[in-house]
Amino acid sequence: VIAFFQPKSLVGQHVLVSAGPTFEAIDPVRGITNLSSGKMGFAIARAAQEAGAEVTLVAGPVALATPRGVRRIDVVSALEMMQACVAEADQAHVFIATAAVADWRPDSAATQKIKKDGSGQTPTLGFVENPDILATLAQSPRGVSGDLFCVGFAAESHDLLAHATAKRARKKVPLLVGNIGPATFGQDDNALLLVDAQGAKEIPRNSKLALARLLIADIAARLASQSA
Ligand code: CTP
Ligand code: CA
Repeated sequence: VIAFFQPKSLVGQHVLVSAGPTFEAIDPVRGITNLSSGKMGFAIARAAQEAGAEVTLVAGPVALATPRGVRRIDVVSALEMMQACVAEADQAHVFIATAAVADWRPDSAATQKIKKDGSGQTPTLGFVENPDILATLAQSPRGVSGDLFCVGFAAESHDLLAHATAKRARKKVPLLVGNIGPATFGQDDNALLLVDAQGAKEIPRNSKLALARLLIADIAARLASQSA
């Protein structure tokens, strides 16, 4: 329970974490977002800091306190999150992508509040796809060489193992962590499925902080065996 008792398995490592939802503007007062609370990402940032890592947390709009000793960069949109993560990744050894990045953004945000015109007509929204932050960093030279160890997350509504395995391959990440449902957004506990090239193992249901500590210990062991 107390940070003092956590093994310092990540001393000398710089860990970058993305967390929370993104918010994609429609006009100055409206936008599209999702129900990610950011709790898992914040717990992971805290656990990494407790393990001795230098931690940078790139956070979308969430109502959570910054974990002690963690450097936090607040962003709003997926494009801002992408820019911040790319800029920080140069210094990082590990990237843990927990953010629920909006897959699409409105193709153009109105500069002024969209008004009803009295005719009962509804506005039509067009969308463009946002860049994939995790795939971009995993396929960057440091991601490919393993100097930046990239970890993805997946929240699926069904067939978690199959989807997580396919997602790991598609994103080209060494480790993909599945949230074992039902819907975990905002909840305080969860269970995780760790999928790597060897197969899958489960971390049974626990608080998000306990899971975060176990995941950080697991990642630290992977880094140690990589450099051994
Ligand atoms: N991710 C990201 N940038 C995006 C979309 C996703 O960095 N634009 C990251 C998430 O932070 C997560 C992983 O990719 O670590 C998987 O996200 P997910 O939404 O499950 O996968 P998608 O590839 O977007 O596929 P889909 O939503 O269609 O299942
Ligand atoms: Ca998605």
